[in-house]
Amino acid sequence: MGVKLKNIVILPGDGIGPEVIAQGEKTIQAIGYRFNHAFNLDYALIGGQAIKKTGNPFPKKTYEKCKNADAILLGAIGDPVYDHDPNAKVRPEEGLLALRKKLKLFANIRPIKVYEKLKHLSPLKNERIKDVNFIIYRELTGGIYYGEKGRYEGGTIAYDHCVYSIGEIKRIAILAFEASMGRKKKLCLVDKANVLETSRLWRQVIQEMAKDYPEVETSYLYIDNAAMQIMNAPAQFDIILTANLFGDILSDEASIIPGSLGLLPSASIGFDSCLFEPVHGSFPQAAGKDIANPMGTILSVAMMFRHFDMNEEADAIEQAIDLCMEEGIMTKDLDVEVHYSCSQLGDLIYSIIAEELDQINKKQLSLGSSSII
Ligand code: IPM
Ligand code: MG
Repeated sequence: MGVKLKNIVILPGDGIGPEVIAQGEKTIQAIGYRFNHAFNLDYALIGGQAIKKTGNPFPKKTYEKCKNADAILLGAIGDPVYDHDPNAKVRPEEGLLALRKKLKLFANIRPIKVYEKLKHLSPLKNERIKDVNFIIYRELTGGIYYGEKGRYEGGTIAYDHCVYSIGEIKRIAILAFEASMGRKKKLCLVDKANVLETSRLWRQVIQEMAKDYPEVETSYLYIDNAAMQIMNAPAQFDIILTANLFGDILSDEASIIPGSLGLLPSASIGFDSCLFEPVHGSFPQAAGKDIANPMGTILSVAMMFRHFDMNEEADAIEQAIDLCMEEGIMTKDLDVEVHYSCSQLGDLIYSIIAEELDQINKKQLSLGSSSII
């Protein structure tokens, strides 16, 4: 086991971002302690916080730090102050969009899996969510999000162009096909090829690439049908590959299946940079209350280690989460009678990883003394 040194830039962001990120940091420290690695953690501003302090949701300093990092860990972005103001000059979300574009984080990877212990929280019937385990590969730096947009006729007509190149489609498709080879070898392209020219280009490229992956069962669904299938029979999916806006919508829809948004991690990958963040938003109503669910962030840290090819480290984190689930140690959102705070959960995950625990002493936990930190 070689000692690893990684430079990680932390962007706590808005709302509950700083609270969940603090638990992600504890997880990183625990991995450092147990596996004898060193991590340099650096911090930078993004989103609403950055607007407040600098006027810019993605300050140049943040870009410089992120560009040179081995990985970026992000909390959440979004501030309700801007949500209801269609004339706001600058929005927190622009920070995220600029970060993705400037670091060329073209592949957004969002795994959806159901935890046995939480099955009752899913709005879907238990027989429908049996064996659900799929990953959405969402293109993240192209399409309608980044095409030319504007208004004319004195502002009374607005447009957003959707543009894709073969190169943009291929680079994410390769990641999706490769991932499917290590899984159930099933890939589904979701598009709207019956209407959109960009979708027809996606189909053309994927059909061509599918010839290089004869073992992979490649299928095609229109977005409207896919949205229905995800609710109706989610277990049929393994890898879903799709464009930016479709992936945005489908990943929120799919996040309902496991019963809590708070559990879901994500990775955004480029050739030179990578970013990890929970799927949930900034949840401003919960900010400062220490009630947020840090599991999505902690599982994002596991995705980070897997991306570094540090699989033992990633496994240790996922096992710690599984142990908490099994023991019913969860935050309030998971609707348990006895619930724990965001920071308690982070402390506990630290202890499980650092002390290699395979059972939890709940009494110690409630006294807040179960930890070597
Ligand atoms: C997401 C979010 C963002 C997106 C917003 C905050 C700009 O919804 O990461 O899914 O639309 O991509
Ligand atoms: Mg979204």
